[in-house]
Amino acid sequence: MKSSRRSFLEAGLALPAILNTVPTLTAASQAAKITATKDSPFDPWVEIHRDNLRHNVQEISRRVGGRPILAVIKNNGYGMGVANVARLLVPQSEIFGFAVVKFHEAMSLRDAGIRKPVLLMGPFDEKNLEEAAARDIMPMIYTSLGPALDKIAAKLQKPIALHICVDTGIGRVGVPYYQAAPLIRDLASRRSVQIRGTMMTFAEDMEFDKEQIRRFHETCSALEEEGIALGKKHAASSFTLFQHPDAFLDMVRPGMAIYGIYSENEFRHAGVMDLRPAISLKARVAYVKKLRQGDSAGYNRAYTAKEDVWVATLPVGHADGWPRMAGKGAKVGINGELFPVIASVSASHCIVEIGREERAKIGDTATLFDAQQGSRPEDVSEACGASVYDLTMHLNALLPRRIV
Ligand SMILES: Cc1ncc(COP(=O)(O)O)c(C=O)c1O
Repeated sequence: MKSSRRSFLEAGLALPAILNTVPTLTAASQAAKITATKDSPFDPWVEIHRDNLRHNVQEISRRVGGRPILAVIKNNGYGMGVANVARLLVPQSEIFGFAVVKFHEAMSLRDAGIRKPVLLMGPFDEKNLEEAAARDIMPMIYTSLGPALDKIAAKLQKPIALHICVDTGIGRVGVPYYQAAPLIRDLASRRSVQIRGTMMTFAEDMEFDKEQIRRFHETCSALEEEGIALGKKHAASSFTLFQHPDAFLDMVRPGMAIYGIYSENEFRHAGVMDLRPAISLKARVAYVKKLRQGDSAGYNRAYTAKEDVWVATLPVGHADGWPRMAGKGAKVGINGELFPVIASVSASHCIVEIGREERAKIGDTATLFDAQQGSRPEDVSEACGASVYDLTMHLNALLPRRIV
């Protein structure tokens, strides 16, 4: 094993033990440990649960009748690390390929040895387009790039595989559906182009979604009647997996559901899919102390102790991705109990109230969220109002990731 920080993290080693316990290290992991000593064992870390990822993919596949899954792993793999997630998902036959937004993420997948199809849903310039095409990364196209595609295909001596994005009403990116036909006809007529897919994105508004899928079908069927092949049609995010089985089309394109998190709290109780969170955020208690009645805590004295009370300070703050809103009701697990976050969440710290007794000590593991009922990301979201997308995608990319 190459002794890099990455290999240390991905080996899923136990965090170097603090205080009394020392893990047994193989020679290779000993070398890896040396390269990782810049992390304090108290620092927050992200765990990725391999079995839960696998389970969620199987659940989605069951739900969509075995249609291929284009796994959305944008924004640093929803906090887990784009290459980490891709490597874990790649062996699953249900996974057709991967979709990202940032050009560098698409390239990093190829650098990581990922050979399955990669769709780049974000913007690029002509140089990016050439580099992407050279590495078989499919761009998502919605403007008249025909001449540029001809030029690059001639240079690379191969046609460029791409997906076309049609805007049926989200108003973000994509050619407006009522202007899509001329663009698609133009692309389809070029020998430099291979249309591998045609896609749209829902606004996730129950009523309007129906109009969006109607617009998509109308646009696609008119072109197909002219003999134009549109490749795999896809639209379904996690929301759609729950709400619109009629929009599963040829392939589905979820993100959050793969990571085992219900994108809307109401889906938890719908009995449609059993999703198991594949991501946890943990840290170790940095300090424990007793506040006396009337003592305050946090910037602006956000909290005042009504009575003598024990508090624990965790070295996790909003710079790590733990939202400021967590101070409005989120709970943290320590030694099997849940304790409320109090005061304000600062950049690198938060404080939890642990009651009249000293029920935590320095070095105890604190779970900000994990797969357990009560401390799932959705529980944190319900308790303090932070979105599950913020909880995962805002996790600082520099935190260690450990696959367990
Ligand atoms: C175009 C597109 N498709 C699919 C997804 C996946 O969405 P979700 O994570 O809600 O499944 C996203 C994410 O926002 C997206 O931007």
